[in-house]
Amino acid sequence: MRVTMIGSGYVGLVSGTCLADFGHSVTCIDKDETRIADLQRGQLPIYEPGLDRLVSENVAAGRLGFSTDIASNVAQADVVFIAVGTPSRRGDGHADLSHVESAIREITPHLRKGAVVATKSTVPVGTGDRLEEIIREIRPEYPVFVVSNPEFLRQGAAIEDFSRPDRIVVGVADEAAKRIMADLYRPISINRAPVLFTSRRNAELIKYAGNAFLAMKITFINEMADLCESLGGDVQEVARGIGLDNRIGPKFLHAGPGYGGSCFPKDTLALMRTAQEFGSPMRLIETTIDINNTRKQALAQRVIQACGGTVAGKRIALLGLAFKPNTDDMREAPSIPLAEMLLAAGATVVATDPQAMRNAASLLPDLEFAPDPYRAVEDAEAVVLVTEWNEFRALNFAELAKRMRNPRFIDLRNVYGRAELSEYGFTYHGIGRAA
Ligand code: UGA
Repeated sequence: MRVTMIGSGYVGLVSGTCLADFGHSVTCIDKDETRIADLQRGQLPIYEPGLDRLVSENVAAGRLGFSTDIASNVAQADVVFIAVGTPSRRGDGHADLSHVESAIREITPHLRKGAVVATKSTVPVGTGDRLEEIIREIRPEYPVFVVSNPEFLRQGAAIEDFSRPDRIVVGVADEAAKRIMADLYRPISINRAPVLFTSRRNAELIKYAGNAFLAMKITFINEMADLCESLGGDVQEVARGIGLDNRIGPKFLHAGPGYGGSCFPKDTLALMRTAQEFGSPMRLIETTIDINNTRKQALAQRVIQACGGTVAGKRIALLGLAFKPNTDDMREAPSIPLAEMLLAAGATVVATDPQAMRNAASLLPDLEFAPDPYRAVEDAEAVVLVTEWNEFRALNFAELAKRMRNPRFIDLRNVYGRAELSEYGFTYHGIGRAA
């Protein structure tokens, strides 16, 4: 099948490349000429493990290409995916649909008869209907189908998630469009990834409901961690204990600094706003958002307390800046308020991250950078493990302790344990694990 992807950002690029790898013929389009020129030279705009290899293999096989030319690529396509950004609109938290709407206006004159237009971008409930209206305004009576096909990719594991998904959700009304989407996903659905065909509105809701539920699950265990700290419990044991109940499940129960990234914060906010607007407020989600924001704002206080009540004039090392491992993405990363507040409290903050230092430098101009953990901790009063990169999972503690002014380890991801670190003279502070 011929697929055209409108938008060659994270979602468009991963989805387009994986669809090409299934054997489809895919062109990824973007307005950004430099981005397309870079992609044509094999240079990727994002870091995602395994993506560069998959792109070059599929380009070499002639199944994947990059272009700025909408007209001819849309004219040939059986399926046109909309994978442009839907950021939070300034001021009200609603998803900003201006890119999606202008993409639809641009592609509509070129669509061939019977083509499917599928939204991959996370869009509010009712967007499919709105897009159909726009198409009808431009070409009344012309037979094209608007389908909702939300993505559930995690950054850092996106190729695995696309190729071996728990499920594929397709919101579609027409039989012909359903058949096209079934053909598109046949290469993975034969490996038993269930395809859930449902209404367009339900598909749009499923995307938000899934992310909101996961954000709530993380927030639950984070509050449980606080309680464990007060009561003398260990949140990891509690998470293990409840996670063995199949109805709860073990995943997304890692207590930490609060969720970040480009999805959970944006999608929970958009769902909250939609729910309020339609007179059905979701108080669980409102509270989740509030707790998570407060948690991220309070991280610096943990470090300040661990350092005896002040960090003024002290060096603090941060291991990890990205919102999670295996990405260079800094959006809504807990490291941002943490670093800002430590700097405001008078600390010198030195950070290291395998991928995110370039993005962090533009956001945090007063931050200092080091090429590795050992150089980051020189003369430091405390080291904070912020992002659980593999590079930080087997540290040489004797070496770290030797270089630090004061061996204090604040582990926001519970990678290590007190017993292990005290052997090297460290004082250790985990999350949800009482002294
Ligand atoms: C998330 C969802 O997991 C994907 O299914 C979805 O497709 C995607 O959003 C999206 O809407 O596009 P992502 O934001 O890449 O994916 O990252 P996650 O792995 O879900 O992590 C999100 C945040 O939660 C991170 O800050 C992470 O550190 C935090 N987290 C995750 C925890 O604090 N504890 C956990 O147990 C799990």
